[in-house]
Amino acid sequence: MEKLTMEKLTNYCKQYGFIYPGSEIYGGFANTWDYGPLGSRLINNIKDCWRKRFVAQRRNSYEIDCGILMNPKVWEASGHTKSFSDPQVDCKECKKRYRADKLISNFTTDINPDLMTYEEMGKFINENIPCPNCGKRNFTDIREFDLMFKTYRGTVNDQKLEIYLRPETCQGEYINFQNVLRSQREKLPFTIAQVGKSFRNEVTPGNFLFRTIEFEQMELQTFCKPGNDEEIFNYNKKESMKFLTDLGINKNNLRFKDHDKLVFYASAATDIQYLYPTGWDELWGIHNRTNYDLTQHSKFSGKDLSYRDPETNEKYIPYILETAVGVGRLMLAFLIDALQEEQLEDKTTREVLKLHPALAPFKVAILPLIKKVHSEKAKEIYEKYSNYFMCTFDEASTIGKRYRRQDAIGTPYCITIDDNTLKNNTVTIRDRDTMKQITMDIDKVPYYIIEKTLF
Ligand code: GAP
Repeated sequence: MEKLTMEKLTNYCKQYGFIYPGSEIYGGFANTWDYGPLGSRLINNIKDCWRKRFVAQRRNSYEIDCGILMNPKVWEASGHTKSFSDPQVDCKECKKRYRADKLISNFTTDINPDLMTYEEMGKFINENIPCPNCGKRNFTDIREFDLMFKTYRGTVNDQKLEIYLRPETCQGEYINFQNVLRSQREKLPFTIAQVGKSFRNEVTPGNFLFRTIEFEQMELQTFCKPGNDEEIFNYNKKESMKFLTDLGINKNNLRFKDHDKLVFYASAATDIQYLYPTGWDELWGIHNRTNYDLTQHSKFSGKDLSYRDPETNEKYIPYILETAVGVGRLMLAFLIDALQEEQLEDKTTREVLKLHPALAPFKVAILPLIKKVHSEKAKEIYEKYSNYFMCTFDEASTIGKRYRRQDAIGTPYCITIDDNTLKNNTVTIRDRDTMKQITMDIDKVPYYIIEKTLF
């Protein structure tokens, strides 16, 4: 296949109803995207697989669902109101805005902007980098760009309280640490999970779903005794990587990358990077946050968030081991990895989305061979199978074209309703990847498909 670019993927996603540009009929709204019918199915399936692996299959893992709006003191305690910003530069000629560190890392891999001061970055940019938009070399000094979205609570103008849209979901998990501990009668170590929207006022050059201003995160926070943190950190690395490869991502497109510079409170941080069409970049963050978060929330709330070990009576502030991944960024990686153009034996090509069946928006497509003859029975079967899994129905155009469309959107099984269905109560099941067909009794199909599409 010709090299997949972000532009090609964006067009593919729009054509089939995975993703549309945000506010499109109003000329769009930069770095926002709307999920279409297939995209909504795909992100729900991604979240279901994550929940199954990291919540349902762990006895001491609890999902919660916290507010997007929280007491603004949360963000003072976490440090976000003071220092959650990116270095920004503007081209004085064409007025285009860039993130200074990204401008450097896109220009050269010889130096690492994470290890530079703002002054050093500014000097390097002005001496070396032409504006990617207009080609001129005339940038402003670097300024801090606040990533927090502010809004206001209250109706009377002079009594409005400044509040924030959360920039990460994890703080809700930290401030509910004791609620979960007590209500679930837990002991350390245990995990709190959350899936939800976060918002960042990003300086971003686009890159489709990679960096958006509104995005969903799936975060896990494991609370543990200091000293057990390193083992859990390594376990998290292994399990996060396994999740990706179990769901079919080619392991050659994944790697671990330790952070070159740790934030002051972290004792270890690694990203799982994916090889996007734009190069290697972060997909999933794995962090050892030490006891910083609970220490800060104890200090700012005045509530003692330490833990007393019921066996040893020892008292300490738990350490937190975090894994954090964006649902949209993950969806991007799954799509890039799965979208292929395949040469067939008859010299034709087909576009096929080889998603893991558990991720596929539809598990089966119900296709009556001849509309006039087989549609009625096909509709009956659609209703029956829809009780078990997500189905789609298509009676337009030739059967060959319908197979191709289902291949292109990743449907793992096409079920054809033909004369044999009417006579013998059997259907034909076509496998997306092998294109082989088998015949099966109508009533046996649901169990077969459930088994085949399990994660
Ligand atoms: N609680 C830790 C935290 O939020 P992060 O590295 O800032 O850590 C975690 O974010 C993950 O969230 C990233 O690895 C990425 O997958 C996703 N993410 C972060 N910012 C994003 C953005 N602007 N757009 C899309 N996904 C984003």
